[in-house]
Amino acid sequence: MPLVTSKEILIDAQKNRYAIGAFNANNMEIVQAIIETAEEEKAPVIVQASQGAIAYAGLDMIVGMVKVLAKRSFIPIVLHLDHGTDYYQNIKCLRAGFTSLMFDGSGLPFTENVSLTKKVVEMAHAVNIPVEAEIGQIGKMDSSDEPGVAREKIKEFMADPEEAGKFVELTAVDSLAAAVGTIHGCQEAIAKLDIPRIEKIRDLTGVPLVLHGASGANDEEVKKGIAAGICKVNIDTRIRMAFTKAIQDYFKQNPDEIDPRKSLGAAKKAAKEVIRDRIRVLGCNNRV
Ligand code: G3H
Ligand code: ZN
Repeated sequence: MPLVTSKEILIDAQKNRYAIGAFNANNMEIVQAIIETAEEEKAPVIVQASQGAIAYAGLDMIVGMVKVLAKRSFIPIVLHLDHGTDYYQNIKCLRAGFTSLMFDGSGLPFTENVSLTKKVVEMAHAVNIPVEAEIGQIGKMDSSDEPGVAREKIKEFMADPEEAGKFVELTAVDSLAAAVGTIHGCQEAIAKLDIPRIEKIRDLTGVPLVLHGASGANDEEVKKGIAAGICKVNIDTRIRMAFTKAIQDYFKQNPDEIDPRKSLGAAKKAAKEVIRDRIRVLGCNNRV
């Protein structure tokens, strides 16, 4: 079927209290892993590309791969721009056929974040494409950070619920990535979600909430977050770790193999297991 927008699947998730998995893709094997697994699990799914992924793979390549697989598929598939910090990147993705955008102005002062988000929303809504935006700052973990340091970074930049309410009212954004206890790039599940904060943001905004940096949250935290209003859960680091480890293991066992399909095939299989596990935890399986 053709790509769908994130609006339709996130509203169903919000109504029925589950979350959609939004998985980052950087190459063909990961795009295939996401879509094949979502099909096997009968789950609506969001394939998302960051600005880095677009620079690496090419915008037309990403759109082409996802559209070809969506056309063959029976599940609803969204192609989403993840952390589009550049206004023009949002325009390019809209034109290229993305069915969901994210403007990330979290590094800007509140008023600038509002005005640029609003510009993206006005443009995207003109063609019925929904927009996610970020409030507070969901930082990134440095490889040298100890869990204690990461937790301090998380605390410093949590989203203010009143500000989140005002932000949604001023921008008419469709979903909100609020900093509520996670950080990007965590290779261990150290996050503690601020559940009362999520509930307040849910009540003051009314829009589906997005959990970024979700690789660092264990199953229990993720489930508590969903019960409190999280409707989209972003996963990247867990896939990267599984993908890379599978390649490393493959070459430990087969140091002389030169067929890339063998090592990348093993990596794809490992990515699929991570995706399957997350889909089941989010409760978006058997929804199609
Ligand atoms: O936007 C992408 C996500 O927030 C992924 O976070 O790499 O910690 O899983 P993660
Ligand atoms: Zn993120």
